Amino acid sequence: MTETVVRPYGPSDLRVCRGLWAALTEAHRDLYDDPTIGGEDPGLAFDGHLARVGAERVWVAEVARSVVGFAGLIVEDDEAEVEPVVVSPECRREGVGGLLVARVVAEARTLGVRYLNVRPVARNADAIRFFHQAGFVNLGHVELFMDMRPADGREWGDGQTVHGRRFRL
Ligand SMILES: CC(C)(COP(=O)(O)OP(=O)(O)OC[C@H]1O[C@@H](n2cnc3c(N)ncnc32)[C@H](O)[C@@H]1OP(=O)(O)O)[C@@H](O)C(=O)NCCC(=O)NCCS
Repeated sequence: MTETVVRPYGPSDLRVCRGLWAALTEAHRDLYDDPTIGGEDPGLAFDGHLARVGAERVWVAEVARSVVGFAGLIVEDDEAEVEPVVVSPECRREGVGGLLVARVVAEARTLGVRYLNVRPVARNADAIRFFHQAGFVNLGHVELFMDMRPADGREWGDGQTVHGRRFRL
């Protein structure tokens, strides 16, 4: 198998990282069956992320010299969040995402972070399985919400039981 190299983000990665952000948006569009998520040019949200977290908190994964994934780390005081992690669809299930997360975890450890969080949407079963496999086995906050505009047509299916109560996903 071709070796995967995880390295810090550099300016020449901008275009491909925008494309990966678009792939991340696509995953959420699929989850919610909503092609409007992320707007007309979703890749541009990567620029906002970069400005927010700083280039030194973004890592890319290269296979055969092509960038196929990236991950970011958002640090706030003694807590931090892995956000996002995305691998191009044709390279998934080959260990790339796991290597990216391992790099972010190592960085958080070096920074002395006490709690390292991930906050996938509850519907993203693949991501939850992925993060669990990567060692995120403690459940922190649970966010509950009401859909205030059900007329917009987003559907919520039967979901999960938490503390004996049933929640939709
Ligand atoms: C989530 C994501 C980053 C995983 O990347 P990946 O490179 O495919 O993950 P890995 O190959 O390193 O997977 C490691 C382990 O995680 C688990 N896992 C990963 N993807 C999984 C899936 N779709 N279903 C179930 N388990 C999964 C498995 O245990 C896997 O090990 P295995 O392949 O030996 O069974 C990738 O699927 C992705 O980019 N998804 C779209 C974006 C997204 O949802 N990001 C997370 C929220 S920010």
